[in-house]
Amino acid sequence: MAPAARELYGKPIIEPNVLYCNMLRPGEEIGTHSDVPEFRGINRLSSPSWLVVLCHMSNLFEDYRVHSATGISYCKQAMLSRVVVLLPVSPTLHHYCADQDVKQGRMASYHGIDPEAPGHVHPAVANSAILLDTDSTYHHTDRVAHHDFPAQPEKAPGTTMRYDSGEDKWVVVSPDGERLMAHEFDGMRMSVSWKAQCFATEEDRQKYKDHSDDLTKDMVFEALTADLRARGIDVPEDRGELIKLCLKTYVTEFPRPEAVAETWAAVEESSFHLGGSGTDVAAAK
Ligand SMILES: [Fe+2]
Repeated sequence: MAPAARELYGKPIIEPNVLYCNMLRPGEEIGTHSDVPEFRGINRLSSPSWLVVLCHMSNLFEDYRVHSATGISYCKQAMLSRVVVLLPVSPTLHHYCADQDVKQGRMASYHGIDPEAPGHVHPAVANSAILLDTDSTYHHTDRVAHHDFPAQPEKAPGTTMRYDSGEDKWVVVSPDGERLMAHEFDGMRMSVSWKAQCFATEEDRQKYKDHSDDLTKDMVFEALTADLRARGIDVPEDRGELIKLCLKTYVTEFPRPEAVAETWAAVEESSFHLGGSGTDVAAAK
């Protein structure tokens, strides 16, 4: 992944910082979202996610941005688990895909900030990955497994999933220990996400680590206020009203259902055709 990450932003210093696994059960899907970006001094640990996203989408704080590359790899060929729609704000997408059987999965990307612009579906196959800027890219997944499998009900907080080696199944257990459901691995989708911070120079990496040139919340609101005024927009005194105005002004709209429908149009087995998923193609038409 590191060579691809270097290419993504043209930044040579790659520091992997996150590795996690996603397991989705039959009937589950992940709704449209972009990942939370990072700036020196403003990140998901120090600030609410909406503020970090606002910093990114305003494009006013690029000098402070810590670019993150995300690689997503699918580890198995799960039948009917065609996969992720990526709806980007970013023109940069690097797509690595082994020349293998592609009928088991699909992955799509959208370019540009036009919410009406359709994206592209990419095959998602075992032992391959795509690498991209997920902080600048709206993405979601198709529903896992069979189309007539109902959408999953809300799970109570504290619900867990464990592997039971005795019966070779993944078992869903309620917070009070009740066994709710069991799934064979073949019907599930497993992906691994790898994230790395990308720095242009050693000096940049050092600034990130020693906090010698951090952005602060006061700096953010000062810059946003100045930018709004420069656009001729009245800036309210009240901080709550200012936040609402900033979100309305800077945050890119989600892709419209019609754009998602058009993106999935050629993937006949997608749940976007068959209804019940986040966006129903038939309904969109
Ligand atoms: Fe994501």
